[in-house]
Amino acid sequence: MRGPGRWHNSTKWFVLLLLSICGCSGGSEDVRPWKPEDHDNSKAARTVQTSGITKPGDELATLITITWDQNCTSCHGRGGRGDGPQGRMVRAPDLGRPDWQARVTDESIANVIRKGRNKMPSYSSLPDKVVDGLVVRVRSFKR
Ligand code: HEC
Repeated sequence: MRGPGRWHNSTKWFVLLLLSICGCSGGSEDVRPWKPEDHDNSKAARTVQTSGITKPGDELATLITITWDQNCTSCHGRGGRGDGPQGRMVRAPDLGRPDWQARVTDESIANVIRKGRNKMPSYSSLPDKVVDGLVVRVRSFKR
């Protein structure tokens, strides 16, 4: 009599303990508030992680594009033809001209970007990799 009674009792406590640990007891009010929030949080965390695993090359390419768009297009235009808003005023050259492209060296292009020339401002603080990327971009304008 005593034995089975004790056993029954401890089973009951054990079940209650399990329920409280796993949080799946009948009290659904406890479960409801955090479930959607937790779902949203894990979604947000996944988004952050995804942007964190972009290839380093992608980030550099983005940086070069931003640098070109923000610092160079006002004179040179998006396609390097010298047709940016200020292009005519400063007489920005058309960077796609095949004759110029044929005779200029990469070193010379990088040098002008770093040191400037006449109305062309200097961009001495740009990292080497960005300058190299801008040279590649300038080369891409070749017709
Ligand atoms: C304020 C207008 C202006 C801005 C901004 C500007 N440039 Fe220029 N750029 C010029 C002018 C003007 C020249 C012609 C310079 C000369 O030879 O007299 C030039 C020339 C050049 C040349 C040709 C150099 C050569 O060998 O003939 C390259 C390449 C160039 N710019 C790249 C860039 C890049 C890359 C940026 C942005 C980081 C930039 N420019 C920003 C006005 C500008």
